[in-house]
Amino acid sequence: MTAKLIDGKHIAQVIRDKWKLRVDELIKKDIRPGLGVIIVGNDPASLVYVGNKTKACESVGINSKQYDLPVTITEEDLLAKIDELNNDPSINGILVQLPLPKHIDVNNVLAKISVEKDVDGFHLYNMGALVTGKMIFPPCTPYGIKCLLDYTNIDVEGKNAVVIGSSNIVGKPMALMLLSMNATVSICNIYTYYLTQYTSLADILIVATGVPGLIKKEMVKPGAVVIDVGINRLPDGRLVGDVDFEGVKEVASYITPVPGGVGPMTITMLLVNTIMAAERSNKLAKPYIDFDRA
Ligand code: GUN
Repeated sequence: MTAKLIDGKHIAQVIRDKWKLRVDELIKKDIRPGLGVIIVGNDPASLVYVGNKTKACESVGINSKQYDLPVTITEEDLLAKIDELNNDPSINGILVQLPLPKHIDVNNVLAKISVEKDVDGFHLYNMGALVTGKMIFPPCTPYGIKCLLDYTNIDVEGKNAVVIGSSNIVGKPMALMLLSMNATVSICNIYTYYLTQYTSLADILIVATGVPGLIKKEMVKPGAVVIDVGINRLPDGRLVGDVDFEGVKEVASYITPVPGGVGPMTITMLLVNTIMAAERSNKLAKPYIDFDRA
């Protein structure tokens, strides 16, 4: 078998085109969605990510404002900046680019963002809502993966879904979303003994570990759907995922490439969440999204 490619770049564009129409409708009502992006320090990777987010905002008509704060900023001053944006009616979504410098407690920062503006979906309240299957803002990467599966008509109900990686940003919320959609979910990580015992039973395999090429062909069930969240830069400059793409594509039914798979979806879902925040603040959308099929 040669797996079909799940083209995240194309699917992301289809979703952006659809949501741009909703921005056009808002603009007709004199509402312009606004995203405030805070970046602390000048980590080169973070600057690239933030630049890509800002460009993507412009492409759909979201007004994005970037706040470049010095690496020496105190936690107190950063919290005050967030509060200012919480109270700014032109800002519908707030994003604080991670990681933050070590002297700042990330939990205090995420908790400070108003729940109604938490378009990253990282606030504890948002995380708690995930458990119920009724999400306020679904975290962008797992939400993007859900949309990739939906677009490709892959139903997860009753399937064995194995998530490798248990981060707060990807693995844990992904597992909760799949559970809400009635998949049977296992969560593994890089410490799991006998990883192949889990992966070889997976109908849906989602890998988010940051270990290049961790998943080999022999570990994958024939016909499985394989979603690769990893983005790893090798010493020779190549960008690769956590899945050995060339080997695994011979046994999987569907596979995401790196780059061009999950990556473009993450930014797209940030746009979706920001537009939804603007609609909600004008009472034009429901206050939550229901993934729960129970
Ligand atoms: N750093 C790496 N990924 C992300 C993300 O999705 N959101 C934020 N705020 N920071 C990140």
